[in-house]
Amino acid sequence: MLYPLQVSATRATQTALVASLRLGPPKARQTTVDVPGDKSISHRALLLSAVADGTTVVINPNRGADVMATLNALRRVGVRVSKRGDTFIVAGSHTLHDSQAPIDCGNSGTTMRLLMGLLAGRVNAKLDGDASLRRRPMERVAAPLRAMGANIKTSRRGKPPVTLQHAGKPLRGITYELPVASAQVKSALLLAGLQASGRTTLICRDQTRDHTERMLKLMGAAITVGSRRILLRPSALRSPARLYVPGDFSAAFYLMAAAAVMPGSQLRLRMVGVNVTRSAALDVLKAMGARVHITNRRERSGEPTADVVIKGGAPLRGVTVDKSLVPNLIDEIPALCAVAAAAKGAFRVCGAAELKLKESNRIATTVALLKSFVVDARSLPDGIIVRGGRSLHAPRSVATHGDHRIGMAAAILATAARAPIVIEDAQCIATSFPGFAGIWRETFG
Ligand code: S3P
Repeated sequence: MLYPLQVSATRATQTALVASLRLGPPKARQTTVDVPGDKSISHRALLLSAVADGTTVVINPNRGADVMATLNALRRVGVRVSKRGDTFIVAGSHTLHDSQAPIDCGNSGTTMRLLMGLLAGRVNAKLDGDASLRRRPMERVAAPLRAMGANIKTSRRGKPPVTLQHAGKPLRGITYELPVASAQVKSALLLAGLQASGRTTLICRDQTRDHTERMLKLMGAAITVGSRRILLRPSALRSPARLYVPGDFSAAFYLMAAAAVMPGSQLRLRMVGVNVTRSAALDVLKAMGARVHITNRRERSGEPTADVVIKGGAPLRGVTVDKSLVPNLIDEIPALCAVAAAAKGAFRVCGAAELKLKESNRIATTVALLKSFVVDARSLPDGIIVRGGRSLHAPRSVATHGDHRIGMAAAILATAARAPIVIEDAQCIATSFPGFAGIWRETFG
């Protein structure tokens, strides 16, 4: 039977577009794929270029809904940004404008939290988002910004909308120990520290993605990065003129995971970001037995990139993920759990309570997804246990709960089950991985 891959969309209500994505039974293919530009780096490229001297051409940016939310937010505060071919062109500015209407951050926590840091003390604005974002905690950024002198209010129980008002005087640098392992909190405070009086010192017990620190260095900021301490003096940024965004590791990993569970497949992903603060899931996948080969390593715009080749069909085993690695694979946990379903023995990840605060409660939604494939999975207060290796039974359709990573994890599980699947509410996948359906068809269709 032929199951063509297609995305169908129906207008369920006047406002919400509900799309279901139908994936046919997977095929073993040998393919080379380019994934979209990195989402985290694209947000930062826009935000830092917006306040740098000069014009920046951002090459290969992610064009998913989350990054578009950042781009549109910057336009709302007066930044000139245009989209040309495979680039964004950002005219840096020293003055940002107040935004009269609320700024819509959509589904994107990164947009809201990093904007809080960039805009605090500079403009009057109100930041809001969709139903999922309205459930996510913002005090983790607002509280230290207040300590820097920002006039900032969150709504009930510290959630969005967030209101920023001119403090009338510049922010001041503080010394702050991050209570959570969060690159978003760290980055927001660094963005605020750029225009503060005095030095900002961040003490970070856990290593989280360091794209902001790398880009600040590239743009000439007075930043010193130690193993647990970051020092930033107020700095004027210089545009690097051209800023290259590597392929998104997280998007790539969902394809790698599917290749790992598909015997006979061979997948080459070109020019993917392999920054160690992001790519720990690859080490875990190797430890589980997958055949992974990294070639063509090089650095572009301060970020390490490489081609990653993965061959499917190696016997896989469950592992325990070291807690210290969790911040470096936080977005890949649903994909690793899907691989674990096809691996022999127990897979365990702990120290990952932050998963509950993502686009969905990812401990609950990952376990529910695994159970819908009849996988033995259990939630822990701060993690997940998967006992894999038994045959998988694919349901006819799965729900994403509006979470892009859950939708993509469902595609991995269907691959492991060699079954077709309908992913309901699949439009959320485009927040991070625009073009997912087409790339999946090239790779497994
Ligand atoms: C991101 C950081 C992570 C990650 C998110 C993107 C970023 O969140 O889960 O998808 O771009 O800084 P936290 O920093 O809140 O852990």
